[in-house]
Amino acid sequence: MKKLMLCAFVATLLRCPIAPAQSTEIPHLEKRDNRFALIVDDKPFLILGGQINNSSAWPAELPDAWSAAEAIHANTVEAPVYWEQIEPAHGSFDFGNVDLLVNQAREHHLHLVLLWFGTWKNGQNHYVPEWIKSDPKTYPREENAYGKLLDVMSASSQANLDADKAAFAALLRHVKTIDGAQHTVILVQVENESGSVGSIRDYSPAAQKAFEAEVPAELARVLKLRPGNWTQGFGPDADESFAAYSTAHYINQVVAAGKAEYPLPMYCNVWFAYPVHALENRDRPSAGQEYPSGGPQQANIAIWKAAGPAIDMLAPDFYSDDFTLFRSIVATYGRADNPLFFPESRFDATFGRYFFYALGHGAIGFSPFGIDRSTQPAVPNPQGIIASEAAQRAVNPAENFALFHGPEQQIAELNLEGRLYTAVEDRGAARQAIHLPGADAVVSFGFPQPDGAYPPGTSTLQGRALVAQLGPLDFLVTGFDVSVSFAVSAAALDKQPNQQMEILRAEEGQYVEGTWQATRILNGDQTDRGLNFRGSSPSLVRIHLHTLPLYDEAVHRGAQ
Ligand code: DGJ
Repeated sequence: MKKLMLCAFVATLLRCPIAPAQSTEIPHLEKRDNRFALIVDDKPFLILGGQINNSSAWPAELPDAWSAAEAIHANTVEAPVYWEQIEPAHGSFDFGNVDLLVNQAREHHLHLVLLWFGTWKNGQNHYVPEWIKSDPKTYPREENAYGKLLDVMSASSQANLDADKAAFAALLRHVKTIDGAQHTVILVQVENESGSVGSIRDYSPAAQKAFEAEVPAELARVLKLRPGNWTQGFGPDADESFAAYSTAHYINQVVAAGKAEYPLPMYCNVWFAYPVHALENRDRPSAGQEYPSGGPQQANIAIWKAAGPAIDMLAPDFYSDDFTLFRSIVATYGRADNPLFFPESRFDATFGRYFFYALGHGAIGFSPFGIDRSTQPAVPNPQGIIASEAAQRAVNPAENFALFHGPEQQIAELNLEGRLYTAVEDRGAARQAIHLPGADAVVSFGFPQPDGAYPPGTSTLQGRALVAQLGPLDFLVTGFDVSVSFAVSAAALDKQPNQQMEILRAEEGQYVEGTWQATRILNGDQTDRGLNFRGSSPSLVRIHLHTLPLYDEAVHRGAQ
């Protein structure tokens, strides 16, 4: 724990205050060989985020939010901007809360992701201003199949779209004015978990007309559909596909209007479709009931990509303790056309290994939800947020972020270059190998690890390791509840059997302004049985290895 505090302290010292940026370049995403990084002031940046509660972006609540972010060693706070607050009357804007957010984030040396709570918030319209809510004739609602007006705005209404576009553009114009030079705001979420709760699609007259018309030609071309209407094009999936297109097409125009003012990278978060259990005798969850229909759920990604080219990322919110599901979501959303980013996750003991797993699959950032716990919802919501032990909640994100707060640039850069690997514990897999070019890293989870015994694993499956390749046999290593040792890889042994691996030097240390600084050389008990990373005592180790013949060449030749 002492080490954790030291790390955090060094990290705090090293954190640059968010003073005028070094670069005139707006934060943006960079792609290299199908890998991504968020570039902030010319450098790759790993988002160690913390999302505050929905009603916390208010002057009275913000002090708690900043201390919560500091307590978990976040480098970025994700905070909502409420349409109802910034545009209380049509065309009249109040950016007081936004200014406060930006100024206070700077005081606390934090970056910001702004969350635009506009037309959609969790598949409903709860943050649209009163002047819109009270005038459904001008700003039409979505209707269900029986004509009931829902608390969801119709995505087929030009008036709704124009109103959202105007407000979002005004917000981005303002952000550019106050932050165009400083880059405190690095990313924007457009809408929140869009789609509709209450109906599989909009049946309002305008929507119905569009549904009966031809599928838009561009969508039909990309999806290789024969010309025809939605039913002909999508068969049993017509309703949800129509909802997906309408929602993506609408949000794409909101994004484009914002980017025309200030082209920050922009993403949409996803309330994805959680699988149903076979016992429930259904093959899939119901759109509009168990998740908002038409959002960027797994099955709608192709439509969203086609209809939303201005949207940089579709980013899943993950609220389950099912690790198999997590892996499938990583595989689904980590695509060559979609940087992997988790804007929301549970704030509990599942955090560590999900975070490590995502990092090893190229994630540009990760953020637990509801870091300022004073206003945490009292009851679990349908996504299954279950209150967990207070201690668990606090410790886990903090120990992870403390480790990377400081070398976040190196970690993001190594990821962009494809040199970062992770292994996480799983049931029945307390020992695993990471196959690196030139070496195998053998990771063993849980302690004690008596000689000759299979590692015990941990009772909570929390073991995790990260290995980054800095040079041919030069690695940066860290982790929790794990030992890591290196061996010549099987592939290398096939080519040249007469070789063994040896440690030249193992250094514990830190990155100081981008440069590695060793604090001690590890040897003896600290390296003889691998590098040991126990419990909540994180450290970074840089290890240099070399190979030498296993046998004297002459003897070896004789033996062959
Ligand atoms: C997901 C939403 O995106 C958040 O705004 C919040 O409502 C959480 N669910 C948890 O309540």
